[in-house]
Amino acid sequence: MANVVVVGAQWGDEGKGKLVDWLSEQADVVVRFQGGHNAGHTLVIDGEVYKLSLLPSGIVRPGKLSVIGNGVVLDPYALASEVDRLKTQGVEVSRDNLRIADNCSLILSLHRDLDAMREDSNSGTKIGTTRRGIGPAYEDKVGRRAIRLMDLADPAELPSKVERLLTHHNALRRGLGQDEISARVVLEEITTIAPKVLPYMDVTWRLLDQERRAGKRILFEGAQGALLDVEHGTYPYVTSSHTVSGQAAAGSGLGPNAINYVLGIAKAYTTRVGGGPFPTELDDEIGHRIGDRGREFGTVTGRRRRCGWLDAVLLRQTVSTSGIDGIALTKLDVLDGFEEIRVCIGYKLDGREIDHMPASESAQARLEPIYETMPGWSDSTAKARSWTQLPGEAVKYVRRVEELIGCPIALVSTSPERQDTILVRNPFEG
Ligand code: IMP
Repeated sequence: MANVVVVGAQWGDEGKGKLVDWLSEQADVVVRFQGGHNAGHTLVIDGEVYKLSLLPSGIVRPGKLSVIGNGVVLDPYALASEVDRLKTQGVEVSRDNLRIADNCSLILSLHRDLDAMREDSNSGTKIGTTRRGIGPAYEDKVGRRAIRLMDLADPAELPSKVERLLTHHNALRRGLGQDEISARVVLEEITTIAPKVLPYMDVTWRLLDQERRAGKRILFEGAQGALLDVEHGTYPYVTSSHTVSGQAAAGSGLGPNAINYVLGIAKAYTTRVGGGPFPTELDDEIGHRIGDRGREFGTVTGRRRRCGWLDAVLLRQTVSTSGIDGIALTKLDVLDGFEEIRVCIGYKLDGREIDHMPASESAQARLEPIYETMPGWSDSTAKARSWTQLPGEAVKYVRRVEELIGCPIALVSTSPERQDTILVRNPFEG
């Protein structure tokens, strides 16, 4: 039985929601394995729009089990409000369809405070985070002082864990000129919300192993994109989790052999939110046109996304670092009507040609893209459901991208509606 991982193959916002929804309909279990409520997944089902940040996309479909794995950082208040919002849309959420890893690290308000303080301070690197506390929560996790979900079920031990956490945070807060936080305030914050999240707690690695052995189809739902990976992305302008496909195993508690197919989602062009290098960025009329046509505004923060041509060098790199078996190319219709279309096929660094994104921050900032120019198309690709409905130049573009990145295109998405898809290969069928 095939289990599928879906990852963003660029800097996030590749249109994963539609593809994940289509795949979750065929899956039995949908698992989030990294990130937190910094994600913004929009699903449109029978005209109803669902906006999810933390819950796996399977939650909106009856009969699917949704799992928040240990690799996620969980803001219990965000979880409770997302569950309440979905309930007003008629979606049932209970222990029958939602389980959360007992060893999941929590995001508390002190993490959000720290995220915002750093972003607002004039010293250091401004990452342009979502200010959800994601980075500080992961720091506490690897610093071995995080409060984890299971701690909420252990009132006797909780105060000493909060003290341990505050020893670190109050030192930081003093250094940043902020008031210290008392243990009483943190304990109150945690114990107030505990009854809302504890009912979903489970030993999810074991549950997933049982589901796998029972032959159930598991969909691993990635958030953000591979170029925001804390190691393989454009460090330090990255998120604080692993966004590459390998994290699906570590972040859920299954071994890598549980993964049968990796689907990478990539837009037919490139976007990025927040700071950091972006070699093909277009700060001109073309970039604005792409942004307007593609409605490139953040789901979580509402920020205007930076836009540019497709970077085949970066896409080839993520095909490699995430072991991508097939790409779902989205938003092809946004490129309709351009006289010519460019694709980045290499970089110039200090006069030398290179074929990959170097790891050094200063080298990344000096990259100049080398472009291949292709003729555009005037006919619309929107809503096409087969290759024959695409203009010839659009087919050539897709085929050329396939060649440049060394990976087959498994699907082409031509509108937010799920039927508007050219299906070459169904990931669940291997
Ligand atoms: P953080 O994840 O909030 O720490 O933000 C770190 C970087 O990742 C910033 O550049 C954010 O804009 C970016 N980022 C985080 N989540 C998303 C997402 O879901 N889509 C696109 N970019 C994201």
